[in-house]
Amino acid sequence: MRVVVSGICGKMGQSICKELLKEEGIEVVGGLDIKDKGMDVGSLLGSQKTKALVHDSYEQIKKYSPQLIIDFTIAEAAAKTIGWALENNIDIIVGTTGIDKKTLEKIKDQAERAQSKVFIVPNFSIGAVLMIKMSALITKYFDGCEIIELHHDKKKDAPSGTSVMTSEAIGKQKTFAHERLKEFESETAENSRGSFLNGIHVHSIRLPGLLAHQKVIFGTKGQTLTISHDSLDRTSFYPGVLLAIEGLKKLGNFTYGLDKLIEI
Ligand SMILES: NC(=O)c1ccc[n+]([C@@H]2O[C@H](COP(=O)([O-])OP(=O)(O)OC[C@H]3O[C@@H](n4cnc5c(N)ncnc54)[C@H](O)[C@@H]3O)[C@@H](O)[C@H]2O)c1
Repeated sequence: MRVVVSGICGKMGQSICKELLKEEGIEVVGGLDIKDKGMDVGSLLGSQKTKALVHDSYEQIKKYSPQLIIDFTIAEAAAKTIGWALENNIDIIVGTTGIDKKTLEKIKDQAERAQSKVFIVPNFSIGAVLMIKMSALITKYFDGCEIIELHHDKKKDAPSGTSVMTSEAIGKQKTFAHERLKEFESETAENSRGSFLNGIHVHSIRLPGLLAHQKVIFGTKGQTLTISHDSLDRTSFYPGVLLAIEGLKKLGNFTYGLDKLIEI
């Protein structure tokens, strides 16, 4: 399978590409990025030179006849690349987070009329997907839930895509609260109770030293239950990327979330 990694010069692009280069049956034919144009992909990753180069234009990428693009960039760039991939009958797996709902709707529309597939995966960590599924399963036994999501200080969007998905999965089972603040609550510092998604308060922490972490805390009379997940290294996302590549053939033209490939 001929693969192009978009955002190849970034932290995720490089980490995933290093692993992809070890796979039999997958050939990284090129990279797309606005940085390091013309650089050999092997040299970029500190390994042996390959025939693949980094390009900053779709025209040059098209010359490689890629069958799949894997995107880890920024939301606006990802949306543009998805549109281009669909117009050119190339499948695309998107790890980039922060794509807004309106744009997702447009992408879905375009994908349904296209010859190729879009698979948007805000979190490739299999552990995080299981955390979301287990949270949804146990919701009915509790009276309240709050989420703390913790990420590295270079993360651009908040709250994290994973916390949004977690709140949606829980919200489908039960609405814990209809208003952000209860009648008797007040905030002496703005937003001290965090953001409010699907009836759940979400607290976003950004610090150097962190990678991607989340705690889903449930409470009921006399007890709490915490489901906690930690991505300690970017390699934690790779098994999910492979699962997405392998599972793509089973999916429709537009799919959102790795949970569609994970049964419990
Ligand atoms: N789905 C997941 O499991 C998962 C895990 C970690 C990070 N992410 C997301 O992946 C994305 C990338 O994260 P990162 O930490 O690698 O960021 P990063 O800033 O290290 O890398 C982004 C790369 O995209 C490139 N880029 C920006 N605009 C571009 C454009 N128009 N065309 C081509 N390339 C462009 C940048 O030059 C950079 O090399 C973020 O949205 C992040 O939230 C997703």
